[in-house]
Amino acid sequence: MNQIIASETSTALSADSALVREYLDRVVRPAALDEAAQKTYKTNIKQLMQQKNARLVAHYYTDSVLQDLAEESGGFVGDSLEMARFGRDCDAETLIVAGVKFMGESAKILSPEKTVLMPTLEATCSLDIACPVDKFSAFCDQHPDRTVVVYANTSAAVKARADWVVTSSIALDVVEYLMEQGKKVLWAPDKHLGSYIQQATGADMLLWDAACIVHEEFKARGLADMRRLYPNAAILAHPESPSAVREIADVVGSTTQIINAAKQSTKLEIIVATDRGIFHKLQQVAPEKTFIIAPTAGVDATCRSCAQCPWMGMNSLESLYSSLQETTNEIHVEPALAAQAMIPLQRMLDFAANNQLKVRGKA
Ligand code: 13P
Ligand code: SF4
Repeated sequence: MNQIIASETSTALSADSALVREYLDRVVRPAALDEAAQKTYKTNIKQLMQQKNARLVAHYYTDSVLQDLAEESGGFVGDSLEMARFGRDCDAETLIVAGVKFMGESAKILSPEKTVLMPTLEATCSLDIACPVDKFSAFCDQHPDRTVVVYANTSAAVKARADWVVTSSIALDVVEYLMEQGKKVLWAPDKHLGSYIQQATGADMLLWDAACIVHEEFKARGLADMRRLYPNAAILAHPESPSAVREIADVVGSTTQIINAAKQSTKLEIIVATDRGIFHKLQQVAPEKTFIIAPTAGVDATCRSCAQCPWMGMNSLESLYSSLQETTNEIHVEPALAAQAMIPLQRMLDFAANNQLKVRGKA
């Protein structure tokens, strides 16, 4: 049972790498729309979706307007695993994925016969950026004795190199299962999620060195101060958060697991360490509770994300409308690559179907 942070870190790119910063510099925040403009866009998008037999699938971190639109129009709001499953199972000809690029790629891999569009193709993820396939593949080649498990937040090419793909809601269960089979794991790309799984299962894991720029910014010291300020509050954290933050949390779980924990908690005040986009769903499912964002490093101009994923924030009504109207921003995954990436993805979906997933935590 040993945890080894990849000694070949020179092959990996950390969340602070110049490449991640380059992508961050290119982020363009959509202009805010007034209520009348929002209403017009929503009406026009719904009409277009009917004409094109299209369905909108949105992540919990996207703008609340997009989440509402997805639900009002027969689409879906969920975590990355549920989004993939909904996209695969629904009978639409076109899927519009509001989220980040790996989510669009997963949808296309699982539904090659569907047209998959995204409001923007620029919406990426620091984990995906920090795990380029050539370096990752070389790393895997150096450790042929390990089962390669990659987080869904990766490119199709990285998935194609893996034995398993997992999302945060299923990662723990899959690694526990592999450990029971006596397997050693090579894990990529999120080092915090990797260390969380390693601590929880005791599995032998070799970790790639990358992080989510949003969750890495949550600060344990600030959270401990907050606990003193709100002694009766529950603290819920996403496992992409650093270990010192996770240790203070009452529940550590994926976005859906956080929502379920908030619903079930007897506490009326809940401090949440994940992207603030989730507050929309939290307020819907537990309107009697007060949700408080966990403290991040810096405020306003001095924090990098301020608990809001800049790439998720690029999805807007305007960009969604134009991609649907003009059939632009289509996701293409080369068929041979998609077929290869489908194997570990399908393994995860089969595993999820055959297993009862649990929320891990102290509450
Ligand atoms: P979930 O799998 O919990 O939806 O998380 C995806 C993600 O990007 C978290 O930052
Ligand atoms: Fe990637 Fe983090 Fe954004 Fe999720 S919140 S998409 S992990 S950068």
